[in-house]
Amino acid sequence: MVQPKRNQTLCSYKSGSFNKTSSRVANGIIKFSKRKKITEVSGIEEEEAGAEVDIWNYVFGYAKLAVVKCAIELGIADVIENYGSPMPLPELATALRCEPSRLHRIMRFMVHYRIFKQEPINQHTVGFSSTPLSRRLIKGGEKSMVAFILLMCSPPWLASWHCLNARVLETGNNISPFEAANGKDLWSYTETNPDHNEVFNEAVVCYARLTVEAIIKGCPEVFDGVKSLVMSVASRHSHGLEASTLISIPHVVAVAPKSNSTENVAGNMFMSIPNADAAFLMWVLHDWDDEECIKIQCREAVPENKGKVIIVEAVLEANKDYELSFVELMLDMALMAGTRKGKERTLNEWSYVLQQSGFTRSNVKPIREVQSVIEAYP
Ligand SMILES: C[S@@+](CC[C@H](N)C(=O)[O-])C[C@H]1O[C@@H](n2cnc3c(N)ncnc32)[C@H](O)[C@@H]1O
Repeated sequence: MVQPKRNQTLCSYKSGSFNKTSSRVANGIIKFSKRKKITEVSGIEEEEAGAEVDIWNYVFGYAKLAVVKCAIELGIADVIENYGSPMPLPELATALRCEPSRLHRIMRFMVHYRIFKQEPINQHTVGFSSTPLSRRLIKGGEKSMVAFILLMCSPPWLASWHCLNARVLETGNNISPFEAANGKDLWSYTETNPDHNEVFNEAVVCYARLTVEAIIKGCPEVFDGVKSLVMSVASRHSHGLEASTLISIPHVVAVAPKSNSTENVAGNMFMSIPNADAAFLMWVLHDWDDEECIKIQCREAVPENKGKVIIVEAVLEANKDYELSFVELMLDMALMAGTRKGKERTLNEWSYVLQQSGFTRSNVKPIREVQSVIEAYP
C-alpha cells in the first residue's frame, strides 16, 4: 500500500499556492479530491509542501533544458510544424529516424510541460501538434530562441556555472567563472574558437531580432530624426533597423555579413566609436562594470546638441509584476558566470553610470521584452 505523508494528506504545490489536489486513504486506496482548502493546513505545512515540490525542480532543473536541446537537435518542432495536422508517433519516429519507444518518452515529457499538445486523430489514435512554445524551438522560426538555447547548453557556458561559487567568495580572484573554466575570457575564447564564435553570434542575432522588433513596435519614435546610426554588429540582422556603421571586435566583424549601405568597422569601443546621429548599444553595457561603461566612447560618438545614445538593457526591479522580470535575474546570473564584471542594473545604478559618463538627461521606455530602452542625451 502506498503510504501518504503528513496526516494522510498529499499536497501538490504550484506557483507558490497550495491549491491543487489532496488525497485520503480509504480501504487501502488513495482517493484524490480536488482543492483542499488552504485554511485546513498551517502556513508551515504549506511551506513544507511547497518545498517538497520545489526541491525536485532544482534536483532535475537541468533535465528540461537537456530535453529541449535534444528536441532541437532532432528537429522535432520543425517536423511536427511542417506536418500540418496532429502527427502520430510512428510517423514522427520515421521522419526523424528515431527509435519509437524512446521518442515516445521524450514526447511524453514535452507534452507534460506543454511544449507540444497531444490531440485525437480518430477514436484510436492521437498525434502531436505544435504550440506557441514549440514554435520557439523551430530553427529559423519567426520567434525562434533555438540559437540562444544552444549557447546556454554549449560546453563552455555549462562549464562556467560550475565555477560560480569561487567567484562569489571574498577570496574569489578577478577572473570570470567562464575564464576559470575555459582558460580564456569570453571574447578571447570566441576569437580562438570559431565554432563557439558562431554559436555566440547566432545567439546574439536571435535575441537581437526579437528585441528590435519589440522596440520598433513599442516605441518607434526612438529613431525619429536619426539619419545615421552606429551599432554593434549582431543587431543589424534585425528587421527594420538599418545602421550606417557597425562596430565590433575584429573577429566578430570578420565574419559579419557585408552590405553596400553599411560600413563595418573592426574597432575597440573603449578607444572610439564612429560618429553618428545616434549610437545604439543593445546588451553591450551589461557586459562591463560601472568604471568600464563610463570609459566606453558612446557619448563622444554623437553630436553634443541633438545626438543621443540608445541603450537597450534590463532595468532591474523597475516592474516587479512584469511576468518576465525573473529573466532579468537569470541574465544577471549569466553575466556573473560569463563575464568578469558584467551585471544587470537597477534604475539608480543606470542613473549613476549615465551621470558619470556626462549625459545631462535620460529617460526609460519599457518594451514587450526583458529589456527597456534608455535614451541618454549628452
Ligand atoms: C552581448 S554582445 C551584444 C551584441 C549586440 N547586441 C549586437 O547586436 O551586436 C556584446 C558585443 O560587444 C562586442 N564587444 C566586446 N568588446 C568590444 C569592444 N572592446 N569594442 C567593440 N565591441 C566589443 C562583442 O563583439 C559582442 O558582439
